[in-house]
Amino acid sequence: MNEAFVTLRWEARSLILLDQTQLPEREVYLVCKDYRAVAEAIRRLVVRGAPAIGIAGAFGVVLGAYELIQKKADLFAGLATVFTELAGTRPTAVNLFWALGRMEKVATAHRTESPEAVAAALEAEALRLYQEDIETNRRLGVHGAALLTDGMTVLTICNAGALATVAYGTALAVIRAAVQAGKCIKTVACETRPLLQGARLTTWELMKDGIPVTLITDSMAGYLMQQGWIQAVLTGADRIAANGDVVNKIGTYMLAVLAHAHGIPFYVAAPMSTFDLTLPDGQRIPIEERAAEEVTGWRGQQIAPEGVAVYNPAFDLTPARFVQAWITEQGVFWNQGGKIDLRVERSPAD
Ligand code: MRU
Repeated sequence: MNEAFVTLRWEARSLILLDQTQLPEREVYLVCKDYRAVAEAIRRLVVRGAPAIGIAGAFGVVLGAYELIQKKADLFAGLATVFTELAGTRPTAVNLFWALGRMEKVATAHRTESPEAVAAALEAEALRLYQEDIETNRRLGVHGAALLTDGMTVLTICNAGALATVAYGTALAVIRAAVQAGKCIKTVACETRPLLQGARLTTWELMKDGIPVTLITDSMAGYLMQQGWIQAVLTGADRIAANGDVVNKIGTYMLAVLAHAHGIPFYVAAPMSTFDLTLPDGQRIPIEERAAEEVTGWRGQQIAPEGVAVYNPAFDLTPARFVQAWITEQGVFWNQGGKIDLRVERSPAD
């Protein structure tokens, strides 16, 4: 488990979140005592990253259940509203809907029991999801580490680190595991406009771990690849379709195409909970569109002319053909003829 900071934790019936909107300047924690506060924290990116959003949502359900019991309200009617509100926070990362689905199943399974028993079962399930996330990321990291060789420089985007999960991260878990195995790995972090998760968060957590990181603006990636700096691109994912199409932070597609043009492997690290097998390909994955102010300014400072037209999609779609391998807790899936084949699981050593 990461020692340097805790992304989210459950304590005394509160969800405590490291407020990522304030990093790296301030390391402050937000205490969420009801599900509305959790929903708002997810919306504002106080907590972000696909797995972390899922776990936060699960604890949001627990908070909702305890509040309904306290108010002596109808638990199941009230929980329906709680689920709807939490599910409406962010549309792209499927981990949120996956975690809420797990919570809903537990509620249904305990339907005939007392409201207190239902809430206790929900709390136990959220804690299980929390623990599972740690173990999943640790395993995923070990599988992926075999793909990184000593001396490599790895380019990443956004933050797919411990800040995006309960611990270790996904893409950064792979790097951490490789470093732990004694390999010298350097990283390059794309700043990740507009919200700068790379500049503010990835650099922060890698520096805390003493893993070498160089920060670049997003538009510098091609030049670095051309100059031979980069030996692998490694990203996380918010949703992966059944054929392996990947939706991840805006800019990921650009890196995949660039990597392809330069003969550099492009790897995606994600838990199986990021796969949405109901979608044959990525075309119908909803892409969140966020406020224009994220593009026209930074923390209240206007950088573009007032009234300029803005388009702000938060994610993009990388077709499966650009992905060399998908790294999961179940092993590494190599690209099979332009797509993933989840029936063929190969460990890196095969
Ligand atoms: O908008 P964000 O910061 O929630 O976007 C996060 C990403 O795109 C991550 O790469 C993805 O969620 C994987 S996190 C392990």
